[in-house]
Amino acid sequence: MKHDKIERSATLLLILSFLVVTVGGLVEIIPLFWLNNTIEKVKGMRPYTPLELAGRNIYIREGCYLCHSQMIRPFRDEVERYGHYSLAAESMYDHPFQWGSKRTGPDLARVGGKYSDQWHVQHLIDPRAVVPESVMPGYPFLAQNELKFDDIADHLRTNAALGVPYDEDMIKNAKADLIAQATGENTEGLIKRYGKERWGSATEVKARDFGLNGKEKITEMDALVAYLQMLGTLVDFKTFDVKNVENLR
Ligand code: HEC
Repeated sequence: MKHDKIERSATLLLILSFLVVTVGGLVEIIPLFWLNNTIEKVKGMRPYTPLELAGRNIYIREGCYLCHSQMIRPFRDEVERYGHYSLAAESMYDHPFQWGSKRTGPDLARVGGKYSDQWHVQHLIDPRAVVPESVMPGYPFLAQNELKFDDIADHLRTNAALGVPYDEDMIKNAKADLIAQATGENTEGLIKRYGKERWGSATEVKARDFGLNGKEKITEMDALVAYLQMLGTLVDFKTFDVKNVENLR
């Protein structure tokens, strides 16, 4: 048999396997170069506000992704626990994405609005204060550290270079928008630039003293809680096609 010959010759097997994998790889990869868009656009997705972006930077700095995923898989157990499975479009403005690969703690893709700000602040300062059996480390210093945001416009500009639709108006007002959101004051510009009217999001941009440490002081806690509270709140799944979820049941 011809196949017998191939299996008995390591070199021939190697060469032919290589060919098969190469052809398979090309068939998968090449069409992507001709598609204008590999991610379906979904109503409601907007770029992060400057405060949320700063909070996301802290999330990455502290390595929260090492214990938390942000990717709900389309399995019944996950959908029942966390909500609608994640859409590719929900991380289209994430550079880098935060899907994660390990869940020591729960998935956070839809944690926004699940708890109060007070709960998050307590939990981040001392997880065992609210969840006695928690193995999550405390981050009490976040409530002390003043948020450094002199360079926030550059963060927006860098994201814009990577394809996130931040316009000049957003970049120019990045600092003012960050302060407005962390204090809840003078939020007209913030809402105009990031609000649901412009982007069709399911929820309005939230602006308040997220870290509960006074409006005068903008801390890393303010930014991180603002970020956590918006996760998974942009797409309105009530109007979205839920047929696929129903089929899982
Ligand atoms: C060593 C692993 C670990 C790290 C690192 C970690 N967490 Fe957790 N986290 C957990 C575990 C375990 C739980 C579940 C118990 C609890 O609620 O404390 C949890 C729970 C949470 C919850 C509640 C989720 C829910 O739906 O109930 C949030 C929010 C959270 N973590 C945010 C963070 C943030 C933000 C960071 C980074 C500053 C972080 N975690 C870092 C392990 C971790």
